[in-house]
Amino acid sequence: MLPSIRSYEPRDEAAVVALWNETFPYGEPRHEPHFVIRLKRDHADDLLVVAHLGDALVGTAMGGYDGHRGWLYTVAVDPAHRRHGIGRALVRHLEGRLRACGAPKINLQVRAGNEQVIPFYEALGYRVEPHTSMGKVPQASD
Ligand SMILES: CC(C)(COP(=O)(O)OP(=O)(O)OC[C@H]1O[C@@H](n2cnc3c(N)ncnc32)[C@H](O)[C@@H]1OP(=O)(O)O)[C@@H](O)C(=O)NCCC(=O)NCCS
Repeated sequence: MLPSIRSYEPRDEAAVVALWNETFPYGEPRHEPHFVIRLKRDHADDLLVVAHLGDALVGTAMGGYDGHRGWLYTVAVDPAHRRHGIGRALVRHLEGRLRACGAPKINLQVRAGNEQVIPFYEALGYRVEPHTSMGKVPQASD
């Protein structure tokens, strides 16, 4: 059965937090789920979506569009519901929203140690690209 997918609503918070805590091993305060959700809600771009089977929240996907590229983040499916097309449906749904924003290309990052997810994205048409990812947490003193 395919899930219903809609925009995140505040009543989803506890289930999203539980899924992300189970799924993503990030330890930094900026990755704390309540914080991530609050920042995204404050941004109000309507690119955080949730998948339900009946009343059960079974997946999430978050997008971003910065005027140059679209990005995918926090694509996650409840372990009990994987390999039933929910991840694919979430990404396809978000791709539609990103296209509607005008994003000409969509990128994502796979963290080191999580390479087993690459076949999933390849099945959806994504390709590993020969770029080196860099990042920085800006400091007031910079
Ligand atoms: C990655 C993830 C979202 C996939 O969700 P899912 O609902 O199981 O994926 P789907 O059932 O839609 O899979 C679609 C296709 O992707 C491929 N695929 C999915 N999972 C795969 C796996 N573990 N190994 C190989 N191929 C896989 C298959 O081709 C699959 O089609 P098929 O089942 O008909 O063969 C899910 O495994 C997950 O939540 N992982 C943990 C969180 C995570 O790492 N997210 C990515 C962050 S970058």
